[in-house]
This record gives sequence, structure tokens and C-alpha cells, in this order.
Amino acid sequence: MQQHSQYLDELFAFINASPTAFHAAAAGAALLRDHGFQRLHEADAWGDLDPGAYFVVRNDASLIAFTLADGPGSGQPLRMAGAHTDSPGLKVKPNPLQARQGCVQLGVEVYGGPLLAPWFDRDLSIAGRVSWRRGQGLLQCSLIDFKRPVAVIPSLAIHLDREANSKRSIDKQIDLVPLLMQTPESSPPDFKTILQRQLGLQHPAAVDAEDAEDAEILDFDLFLYDAQPLALVGLNEEFITGARLDNLLSCHALLQGLASAKPRRNGLIVLNDHEEVGSVSTAGAQGTFLNDVLQRLFPEAGVRQQVVAGSLFVSVDNAHAVHPNFAGKHDPEHLPQLNRGPVIKMNANQRYATNALTASLFRQFCQKAGSPCQQFVMRNDLACGSTIGPLTAAEIGVPTVDVGVPQLAMHSIRETAGSADGWHLLRALTTFFSETDEAIRCPQAAL
Ligand code: CO
Repeated sequence: MQQHSQYLDELFAFINASPTAFHAAAAGAALLRDHGFQRLHEADAWGDLDPGAYFVVRNDASLIAFTLADGPGSGQPLRMAGAHTDSPGLKVKPNPLQARQGCVQLGVEVYGGPLLAPWFDRDLSIAGRVSWRRGQGLLQCSLIDFKRPVAVIPSLAIHLDREANSKRSIDKQIDLVPLLMQTPESSPPDFKTILQRQLGLQHPAAVDAEDAEDAEILDFDLFLYDAQPLALVGLNEEFITGARLDNLLSCHALLQGLASAKPRRNGLIVLNDHEEVGSVSTAGAQGTFLNDVLQRLFPEAGVRQQVVAGSLFVSVDNAHAVHPNFAGKHDPEHLPQLNRGPVIKMNANQRYATNALTASLFRQFCQKAGSPCQQFVMRNDLACGSTIGPLTAAEIGVPTVDVGVPQLAMHSIRETAGSADGWHLLRALTTFFSETDEAIRCPQAAL
């Protein structure tokens, strides 16, 4: 297995290359291809798959990868794990540009539940997916990433709002409109022309008459993101700071764990988009993606149910570490700390799908891997969050454990995690993916 410092380099490269869920799926696909995984398409017939490693992508933003050591018909269990590719943020509106006070501003919609204050005064870039065509040609789709800072949301100066530090609130429609450029005109430029230029679609290399037309941008799914890359922080490099640690750190651990597990057994990972907005979508955890793939792998219902019943699903999403300034926000007996290993999350009301058996199985993987682990339960006087674990457990009926590395400032544009925890998580997952069928099965009480 690779070393910790190499792991961190690869994690940073993965997250820096993944400003949006689309880019995360693309970076995941690249990692899997490097490990010999073969892409399948949902619109194709798959036939009888040989033992091997495969992946499939839905809506360019959700990804399922699986390894089959035996043929699919054998009814052997799957080592399953899931995480989400999306993060809360700001999405560009369909008609985004407006000219005001000599500036061109970019209208944005709030995606999910970001902490909004940290978005002010940061160097922002734009990335996402664009659909286009040339002449009467077929519709095409490209990922786009401006990479450099192209926008900023300046704060109002304290001199113009003396109560800024005690009373400022944020109006999402009025206060949260980034500056994109200056203009002498009274009307803004055409945003699609800006995208066309960025994609290099204006000057086709081919010179024949049909191809010589400029490409036309039809639509886009674009998000703002922090142009500042991840950093190792702390006098002894104890911390990682950066955007989208929730939940790309987990996506990376799943991809890396499944791809590098030895021996390669029957395993599956699902990386879902739209967790931050409730998971109800074509590509979300409440959509049909996982079920559709399982049905194609195990078309016979009895075999599929046999597989699922013997399987374990590890749902991985970051947890709340205790914040030294706000320790009162945690239950006093459940205080996950940074760098003390992944957290097993429990909730009596099934906001997390963990139970004693699935928690114990995960604890054993940690032990075997030499990783510490911790426990979290929400205070009774605070509402508990949730994740894809309970949705997947309910949808396909698989025994599930909810875990994740502890972090601070969840949903900030710059989150903080421990620099050792991803490594602890990866080793536990790699152990899980290489465990025997017996070692991942929930025991049953004698009845
Ligand atoms: Co999350």
C-alpha cells in the first residue's frame, strides 16, 4: 500500500481537479482507468460480464464502479460503499449577467446549504458542464473549468455598516452577486459567447465549410468555486484546509480502496450526486442508479436478494469533529477529535443507518488496518443531519454502517480536516474491500 505522504499528494490532486461533481466523476473515471477498470454505458447491452473491474457513469456526475472476482451469477456478497460527489455552493443562473455601476455581475442560485459568509472576499473561479453544437451537428457536451480566479463577492466595508460584526445577515438574492468584469456599456456582454471563447469553440481547426461555423452554446450547469487549492496547515501539518473535503475526501478513499484492494473480491462503490439537495434525482441516492446496476448484474431476483442480504454497505460522509471553541455543541460523551480516526455515526431515529452489528463490523476493519475509530451521536437538543446511508439501506435492504472522517467548518467554502484521518479511513476501507465473505456478514441472533 502507498505511503501517507503519497496518499496526501494524490488526495490533494483529486480534490483540486474536482471543482464540481462532473469533474469529480471524471477524476474518478481517470483513477479507475489507471487501475484497469473498463467503462460500461447504461444505454448499451452489457451481456454476460466476465470477472473483472468495471464502472458506469450517470448524468456525468454519479459513478458506480464494481469488481467481480467470480461471475455475477454466483450469489456471493458484495463489499459495498457509497459517498457523494456534490458539495454545497453557488450555481450560475440561466441568464446570469447584469450590468450595474460599471460592473458586470453574475447571478447565482444557492445550491444546498453552504455557510455563506466564507464566500465573501475569496478568489472565485467557474467550472461545470456545457452543451453545444456546431451548425446542424449533433449536440455535444464538454466539461469546462476556468481554473484562474474570475469572480469575487466583495464584502461591504465596515465603515458603511458599523454593526457588521454583530448584526450582519446575508440576503441570498441581493448580497450574493459576484463581480465578473468591468464594462463601459450599459448592457452586459453575452455569457454564452464568453463560454464559447473559454472552450475554444470559436476557431475550429478544420477548414471545410461545415466545420468552419462557430459552435453554439445551448445550455450550461456551472458552479462557482474557490480558486485557492488545498493546503496542509498547522505547525506540524496536522490539518488539511480546502473546499469540498465533504465529501470528495470520502469519494477518493472509496475509489482508491476499491481499486487497490488485494486480493480483488466482489466489491462495489457508488458515488452519488445531489446528496446536498435531498438525493431525489436521476443520479441521486434516492434515484434508481444503484438498483438498476444491481438488477443488471444479478437479473434473477432471488440471486440479487441473496447477494444483498450477505453484503455490507459502508456509507462514508464526513462527521462533525468537536470544535474547541464550541464544545458545548457536542454530546459530552461523544466528542470526535481530528486525527483520531474515522467516526461511526449512530442515530436512534435512523438518520444514520448504523446498528450494533454493522458498527462492530466496521470497528473490526479499523482494528485490522491499524486505524483508530471514534463514535458520534447528536445531542438530543440539536437536529441530526443525514446522508446517503439510510436512503440506500431503505432502497435496497442492505445492512449499512454510516461513517466518515471528522472535520470542522462543514459546508464552508474552506473546510478543515485532520491530515491523518483520510489515511486511516483509506486503510480501513482497503481492508474491507479485501475481506472474506464471512468477515463482512452481519451475524444473526439465535431465534
Ligand atoms: Co456530506
